[in-house]
Amino acid sequence: MSDSTQGQAMWGGRFTKGPDELVQAFNASVRFDQRLAMHDIAGSIAHVHMLFAQGILQKEEVQAIEDGLNKVRQEIEEGIFVWQESLEDVHMNIEHRLTELIGAVGGKLHTGRSRNDQVALDMHLYVRDELHDVEHLVTQLMQVIITVSQDNIDVIIPGYTHLQRAQPVLLSHHLLAYFWMLERDQKRIRDALKRVDRMPLGAGALAGTTFAIDRELVMRELSFTALYENSMDAVSDRDYLVETLAILSMIMMHLSRLSEEFILWTTTEFGFIELDDAFTTGSSIMPQKKNPDMAELIRGKTGRVYGHLMGLLTTVKGLPLAYNKDLQEDKEGLFDALDTVKPALMLYKAMIETMTIRRDVIQEQVRADFSAATDLADYLAIKGMPFRQAHEIVGRIVRHCIDQNIPFTEVSIETLQQYSPLFEKDVLPRLLPESVVAMRSCRGGTAPSAVIQQLGLAKALLQE
Ligand code: ARG
Repeated sequence: MSDSTQGQAMWGGRFTKGPDELVQAFNASVRFDQRLAMHDIAGSIAHVHMLFAQGILQKEEVQAIEDGLNKVRQEIEEGIFVWQESLEDVHMNIEHRLTELIGAVGGKLHTGRSRNDQVALDMHLYVRDELHDVEHLVTQLMQVIITVSQDNIDVIIPGYTHLQRAQPVLLSHHLLAYFWMLERDQKRIRDALKRVDRMPLGAGALAGTTFAIDRELVMRELSFTALYENSMDAVSDRDYLVETLAILSMIMMHLSRLSEEFILWTTTEFGFIELDDAFTTGSSIMPQKKNPDMAELIRGKTGRVYGHLMGLLTTVKGLPLAYNKDLQEDKEGLFDALDTVKPALMLYKAMIETMTIRRDVIQEQVRADFSAATDLADYLAIKGMPFRQAHEIVGRIVRHCIDQNIPFTEVSIETLQQYSPLFEKDVLPRLLPESVVAMRSCRGGTAPSAVIQQLGLAKALLQE
C-alpha cells in the first residue's frame, strides 16, 4: 500500500484518489501534534470505558482496545512507533496502529466521537498538565527570590526612576518586586485552570452524538469537574489557549524586564552582580568578554511568545462555528510558547541562585550620589519650611556639590548652613544611604523593618 492510499483509508470512502503530495504535507499536523499522544491515549481509554459502561461496546472489545492502546503507548515511549505523515495527525496515527495490532475491532474506538471533540479533549488534558508545570516553575523562582532577598537583606543599591539615580533601596526590596509579579502570574494560572477544567468529549463533530453516552463518566475518569454545556462551543472554544498564551506572555514580560536589569547590572558601569560562568557565554573575538546571553535571549524570545498570542487571536477571530481546520493552527504557537517559557523560568532560578552580589562595588556606588536629596528637603520641611522652598534650596546644594565634585556624604555642616540656618548637626547622618532607607518604614516601603515584614508575607504565601 502506498503512503497516500494508507492515509485515504481513514476517510477515503467517498474519494476516488488519495491527496496530492502537496496537500498531504500541508495538511498534516503529526509532525507537531504527536506530543499529544499520551493525552490522546488517556482520553481514548476513558472513552471506551464509558462506551462499555453504557453497553455500547462489549467487555472483550474494550479489553482489546485498551490493551492495544497500552501497547501503542509503550511503542511511543520506547521510540519505536512509526509516525506517518500520510496519516495526518496524532489521532489517526494511533488509531491506525491500534487497528494493525488488534484488527478491525480497533475501528470501534471512534464510536460516538469525532476528531473535533477528540482534539479538544487532548488539548484540555495537555494544557492542564503544562499549566501545572509552569505554575511549579514560577513557584520555584519565587522561592529563590525569597532566599536571595533574605540572605542579602543588608545590601543597599541605588533605586532608579527614568534610569537616573532616585533614592536608595534595599536590593531585597528591588528583587521582591519581581516576587509579586510572579505571584500574580501564579494566581492567573490557577484562575485559568478553572476554565481549562471543562470536558468537551461528547460534542461529536459539532452537534452531539446519537449514542447514549455518559459524558459525566468521562469527565470524572479524567478528573475534570465540569462539562461543556454546548457541543458547538466545546469543539470551537480556544479561549483557554488564548488565556494560556496571555499568561505566558505576561510571564515573559516580567522575565524580560528582569533581564534588562541583569544586563545592566552585569556591566562594568553598574557592576552590581556577576553571573556564574555556567550561565554566561564568551566572545569568539574578544577574550575578555563574558556576556549575559541568557538574559538577552529571554528578553528577545519575549517577542516570539507575544507573537504566538497575536497569532492565535487572529486565527480565531473570523471563524464561524463550529470546527474549522484553521483551528489546527492553535498548536505550534502554544507548544513553542511553552517550550520557551519553561526553560526561561528554570534559567532564571539557576542564574539568581548562583549569581554573585558585588557588595563592595554596590557599597561604593550607593555613597557616591545625591540620592538623599529628598530626605534633605524633608528635613527642612519638618522644621517648618514649605516643601517647595526646601526643594529649591536642596537643588542649589546639589549644584554646589556637583561644582565642587563631592558627594552628599562629604558635605560639611557649615556648607549646609550657608544655604539654610535650619540645618543642624543631626542632619549629617541622615545623608547616609542606611538612614535614607531606614526612614521609609511605612508598609510596603524599603526600610529593613518593612522589607522583613514583606518577606514574611511572601514566605507565608508560598507555604499556602
Ligand atoms: N489535527 C486536527 C486539529 O488539530 C484534528 C481535528 C481534525 N478534524 C477534522 N475534521 N479534520 O485540529
